[in-house]
Amino acid sequence: MSKMQEEKKIQRIGVLTSGGDAPGMNAALRAVVRAGLYHKLQVFGIKRGYEGLLDGEISEMNAHSVSNIINRGGTVLLTARSKEFQSEEGIKRGKAMADIFKLDALVVIGGDGSFRGARDLHRIGVPVIGIPATIDNDIGCTDYTIGYDTAMNTVKEAIDRIKDTASSHERCSVVEVMGRNAGYIALNCGIAGGAEACIIPEKKFDINEDIIKPILSCRNAGKHHYIIIVAEGVGGSVEIAEKIKEATGITTNTTILGHQQRGGSPTVRDRVVASLMGAEAVSLLARGITGRIVAMKGENVVDLDIEEALGMTKSIDEGLIETSKILSLY
Ligand code: F6P
Repeated sequence: MSKMQEEKKIQRIGVLTSGGDAPGMNAALRAVVRAGLYHKLQVFGIKRGYEGLLDGEISEMNAHSVSNIINRGGTVLLTARSKEFQSEEGIKRGKAMADIFKLDALVVIGGDGSFRGARDLHRIGVPVIGIPATIDNDIGCTDYTIGYDTAMNTVKEAIDRIKDTASSHERCSVVEVMGRNAGYIALNCGIAGGAEACIIPEKKFDINEDIIKPILSCRNAGKHHYIIIVAEGVGGSVEIAEKIKEATGITTNTTILGHQQRGGSPTVRDRVVASLMGAEAVSLLARGITGRIVAMKGENVVDLDIEEALGMTKSIDEGLIETSKILSLY
């Protein structure tokens, strides 16, 4: 599908953050507001994602509204997972509210679910641009999502700390990391954290072959501590730890890292990618181009048709899985 040229000149844009927060959302918001002002657009912040759109929690932003937020995790606009917006009725009410506030277009910063809402709005005549932001990096149309690098660095630091105590006590630690149904965080942090095994939802696993055997062969080679990464999409990390203890006799702890992975000041990569994506989203709107998702292909910022983008899938790098196995051999 070719890029859609809007007949009406875009002058007033709304911006919202939606779904799980991700470090760098603020940097993207800042870029949208500042680039919007540069292009002489009026920019309106919508609170609490689609919930705020439905409730009309919409107010104009200026350059100062986004001062001193590039360094902050979370989202100053607040966010929500809106159930109502998953219905046809909700989408229609969203359009009605965009009309009341005379918004010519919306910029949606969020993950897959948020993009489905954006696509549905676009289908009924609300021009949109999507910016991918989720720690999970699980959006098919883009190689990179805002927040992923910061989350991985948080996980890496946690693994390093857990390793200190696991090695002092000669224990095994099972560390469960986020990622929804994807293993990107788990696999990369398994490599970065020097894990003995890394279990991800994309690969079936056998507890004896993929966890117990590697631990025992490491022990026989003289190793005294073990880190096992389990992606939340696999689940059962407590049960896995019990089975390890049962089979090996090694004291095994479980740490579920949880929501700390979503917080914290964004890394340089997340700040820069978010800034580039935010600026690109507005540059498209200033040229009258809508119905696009801004994405990363390698190191380049590109834009894709929203309908096509939502149908895209990506798969985890098999080479990376192989390398992680090779490197975990003691
Ligand atoms: O999508 C980000 C994420 O943190 C996932 O990794 C996780 O599965 C989910 O959100 C948790 O969502 P909530 O904070 O709503 O429980």
